[in-house]
Amino acid sequence: MDKTWWKHSVGYQIYPRSFYDSNGDGVGDLKGIITKLDYIKDLGVNLIWIGPFYKSPMDDNGYDVSDFYDVDPLFGTLDDAKNLIAEAHQRGIKIILDLVLNHTSDEHPWFMESRSSLKNPKRDFYIWQDGKKDAHGKLHPPTNWGSFFEGSAWNLDPFTNQYYMKIFSDKMPDLNWASPALREEMFKMASWWLDQGVDGFRVDAIAHLARDLTFTDSTMPLNQYHVAPDWGKFSNRDELYDYLKEFNEKVLSHYDCMSVGEVGGGASVDAGVKYAGYDANIFNMVFNFDTCWQNNIFSNDELKDEDIKINVLNMKLTFDKWIQGMKGKGWMPHYWLNHDHPRVMSQYGDPIHHHKASGSMLGTILLTLPGTPFIYNGEEIGMTNVDYTSIDDFTDIWVKNYAKQAIKHMSKDQILSHLRRTSRNNARTPMQWDDSAYAGFSTHLPHQKMVSNYPLINVKRQLTEEDSILNAYKTLIRLRLQSHYSETLIFGDFELIHPKDPNVFAYMRSDEQMKLMIVCNFSKEVQEFVLPLAYKHVVYSNSKNAHTHKTLHLQPYEALILEAK
Ligand code: GLC
Repeated sequence: MDKTWWKHSVGYQIYPRSFYDSNGDGVGDLKGIITKLDYIKDLGVNLIWIGPFYKSPMDDNGYDVSDFYDVDPLFGTLDDAKNLIAEAHQRGIKIILDLVLNHTSDEHPWFMESRSSLKNPKRDFYIWQDGKKDAHGKLHPPTNWGSFFEGSAWNLDPFTNQYYMKIFSDKMPDLNWASPALREEMFKMASWWLDQGVDGFRVDAIAHLARDLTFTDSTMPLNQYHVAPDWGKFSNRDELYDYLKEFNEKVLSHYDCMSVGEVGGGASVDAGVKYAGYDANIFNMVFNFDTCWQNNIFSNDELKDEDIKINVLNMKLTFDKWIQGMKGKGWMPHYWLNHDHPRVMSQYGDPIHHHKASGSMLGTILLTLPGTPFIYNGEEIGMTNVDYTSIDDFTDIWVKNYAKQAIKHMSKDQILSHLRRTSRNNARTPMQWDDSAYAGFSTHLPHQKMVSNYPLINVKRQLTEEDSILNAYKTLIRLRLQSHYSETLIFGDFELIHPKDPNVFAYMRSDEQMKLMIVCNFSKEVQEFVLPLAYKHVVYSNSKNAHTHKTLHLQPYEALILEAK
């Protein structure tokens, strides 16, 4: 098997605005990341994915880019970016950037030109359509398609009285990948960053570059915004693969780089193979969202805490479906969360009663799956969702759009508890470095409110506690990358053990050299579990619980890696 560097990597995602603030303005920055590179090195990871730091009006925290070739002053300068790349490389750490190909900011010069007149040469860099007039002469969007950030996928532009397409916020017009000139500009830009020394990309929102160009209405029922949430109109469509192959041929294939595309919620395993199969010539891997949604928090906005249920059975089957479906065909990335999801500690763990055990159990699974694991900053200390008490504490553009509508039919308390469980702000709070003011993240009031548990959950404390989640992550990362077990953990086969057990997530990783049994109690109760094979020794345990036989009595959230005889 081809054993390139990114297969021997553990990734660490940094959300730049919330990682570390070096200049006391309350916002994290690139110099801040440089300051913390030794921490990252000590953690043991060898790959960093950094969220967007390009010039941006920050409508969507940097995913709305107004200049791809420069760094936003909030985060530093281009020289800081170059220093960061060099400093990371000196420590043996590779860096991948978040590459935003689907849209720009409406403040990008291309869009300003494009919107200026119907005949502007950049007009076809974006997607423009006439609106539809009703019997009273009132103008409506060209189609009934909904956007991901609530409301219509179209916005009327006063300059030419046409609508531009935007599947995210109003300030994020979609680029038209059907335009060869636009594609060339995007390829040039991506190559330029590779020439600056970055080692590849996480490619943002990649499933959406091709749309249904017939621009016909969806037949799906309309939602509360009177639009159809019909993502198929602009997701995983056939023409997309041609654009991406061209991207690979003209850009990626010329560098020793890695690429991981974000294909989101709608992609099947077959689509995964089309994007990231070994013969696809597109990406090295793709992130799907399926394993992030294995409880019912998104099912009903008015859910009560006691009604939340984690579906461990389905979670195991979902991991298995992807792993077996990609086996021999393509490489998988794994992650528990990114900046768009709730904190995994709150989502699947138990922050109140079993913080250490559930945090290290989640780490055990992440770091022993086949493929390339990605840790999200703060996960390694078990950071939790927010405990905000006002809807105004939530700053995300998506939340703001949602709250405006939700207030019409829900109480403030209901909205608040829904947001505390689901909102993207949960993962975007300042990193909890220590117990000083602002958690050691900044000397200034941070751009987003802290979670109030930082005096208890922070890096400084966990560095000194032997059994901390942080130390568990360090041990597990070393086991994966630098131990006698590495080869099996990275490349070995994967097979679920007792797939029908509703509480224990267990699997075998095996090759010709050894068989490792990973056994994780994904519940608050003691569970009895019978191993399929006897074991020689315990490679890793997150508890002091001793076992001597094949029948285990697992403590709540106990995690074990056992080498079979
Ligand atoms: C991706 C990003 C998300 C962003 C969106 C639009 O899903 O992960 O944060 O809002 O794309 O760029």
